[in-house]
Amino acid sequence: MLAGVVFVFISNYFRILQPQIIREALDLVVENIRLYKSMEGFDVQQELYGVLAETLLYFGAAVLLMALLMGVFMYFMRQTIIVMSRLVEYDLRKSLFEHYERLHTGFFKKNNTGDLMARVTEDVSKVRMYMGPAVMYGVNLISLFIMVIYSMVAVSWELTLYCLAPLPILSVSIYYVSQIINKKSERIQQQLAVLNSTAQESFSGIRVVKAYVQERAMGRFFSEQSEDFRQKSLSLGKVNALFYPLMLLLIGASTIITVYVGGLQAVRGAITTGNIAEFVIYVNMLTWPVTAIGWIASIMQQAAASQKRIDEFLKTEPAIANPAHAPGPLKGHIRFDQVNFVYPDTGVQALKNVSFELKPGQKMAIVGRTGSGKTSVADLLVRMYDVSGGQVLIDGQDVRAHDLDNLRRRTGYVPQDGFLFSDSVSGNIAFGKPEAEQSEIERFTKYAAIHDEIMGLPEGYGTVVGERGVTLSGGQKQRISIARALIKQPDILLLDDCLSAVDTNTEKQILACFNEIMADKTAIVITHRIYSYLQFDKIIVLDGGRIVEEGTHDELLAAKGYYYEMFERQAVEPEATL
Ligand SMILES: Nc1ncnc2c1ncn2[C@@H]1O[C@H](COP(=O)(O)OP(=O)(O)OP(=O)(O)O)[C@@H](O)[C@H]1O
Ligand SMILES: [Mg+2]
Repeated sequence: MLAGVVFVFISNYFRILQPQIIREALDLVVENIRLYKSMEGFDVQQELYGVLAETLLYFGAAVLLMALLMGVFMYFMRQTIIVMSRLVEYDLRKSLFEHYERLHTGFFKKNNTGDLMARVTEDVSKVRMYMGPAVMYGVNLISLFIMVIYSMVAVSWELTLYCLAPLPILSVSIYYVSQIINKKSERIQQQLAVLNSTAQESFSGIRVVKAYVQERAMGRFFSEQSEDFRQKSLSLGKVNALFYPLMLLLIGASTIITVYVGGLQAVRGAITTGNIAEFVIYVNMLTWPVTAIGWIASIMQQAAASQKRIDEFLKTEPAIANPAHAPGPLKGHIRFDQVNFVYPDTGVQALKNVSFELKPGQKMAIVGRTGSGKTSVADLLVRMYDVSGGQVLIDGQDVRAHDLDNLRRRTGYVPQDGFLFSDSVSGNIAFGKPEAEQSEIERFTKYAAIHDEIMGLPEGYGTVVGERGVTLSGGQKQRISIARALIKQPDILLLDDCLSAVDTNTEKQILACFNEIMADKTAIVITHRIYSYLQFDKIIVLDGGRIVEEGTHDELLAAKGYYYEMFERQAVEPEATL
């Protein structure tokens, strides 16, 4: 940036030498016209003509040389300042994105995706506009002003005052006009965001839209939003159309004043004819930087607002702190001790006094009605949230004391909404272990009972699954997310209702892997269905955030409570639970 500032000054130095050379040339011509006329009829007249023509060519060459030098330094100026701003932009965007990823899940629920995206894209760009172009034109303006006014005053301070008189009006009016332009562009931007999300929602929800025959209604809504966008754009167009004539008018005024006042002074002999030409060039030189004042001011305002928005997120500390303990394998001893949990954003108490213990290698099932708090138990275990009361202990140590990355890395969590990325099938599975080889991937897809189906896809493991995995069936998505968790070879496995879309046989096949690869690992299976064929060491029944029943399959059946009812219902109408 410092180098850039120096280049701006050097470039402008060569710029203001040009009008001075032109002045010299013009004065030379004016003087010699008289001499030339007085030599009418003599041979020397021809000679003078030749000398004059040659000298003028030298002047022309000098102007060209100056322009060339100016251009070279302008190139350096852009290569330093603009490049610097791009580097700043890159760093800022990267660190903001990295910071986002460190933040807790609650943060992403509180702030909508559009806002998060806007800060990492538009706001960062606005800061760059300030660091780059605004700084560059600002320095350019200052240096040019100093040099031009210095050269002008050296000729005539009176003429300087006259021809600069319209410039303040120019910059003030441009400032106001650009304020209007900015407000209007901002509204257009907002409307564009609405338009984008409207279109995006109708596309991603196209199945619902079609099923409810709402294409026309959605279309109408979209055209209303487009109409709004059109009007806002046209109104900006009008202001823009006024902008340039206004600018030209004021520049014209300046030039006329220079010629008029300068002409009078030249007649008086205070200045030369060449000075008038010099001044006209100066005035034109200043106009672009002066028009830029309003523009620079508004960029600065926008950048300040954007930086504030960026800082607001950068200064948000992750609510889930990482104590950075030594990472190491987990034994898989899990204990919930009087756990209470209230969702911080809604105040819903999801868990009340939940206590249970799982020894290393034990398998547990959590059953319960929808909304009873099953997912919350899993979320607390991998610290998507922290408890509001009580303690969650793993291997006898509070989860909050465990190394966060290690804890999550060694836990295979298959969330309820098995999110897939728009990547190939193998890419999605290797997400659990990036360095995994194809043979390893296949071994785990076999455990998840999905290998054969993947082979049946058009491009096998290379098939791209589309956004969120839209090209796959619900059951296929679930099993791919199970394979993704298994390939991590976790010490603790958490399956959140991820067999709901899988038929009973496939389910049996998947759960058989419990006896193979997960034999000595701790596992928690959250489910709506009761598996009598799988021996769980413990089953807990949640209702309204409380453990209402607890025991083994046989014990719970004997108790004839909620679990028994559920089992009976399932036995009577097995297909209802499929
Ligand atoms: N992110 C959240 N923010 C606020 N409240 C939540 C959030 N997630 C769940 N809840 C609330 O917490 C309670 C327990 O939800 P949880 O997701 O643990 O239920 P669940 O047993 O997993 O249900 P399901 O079987 O439908 O998946 C519910 O009342 C729910 O409304
Ligand atoms: Mg759930």
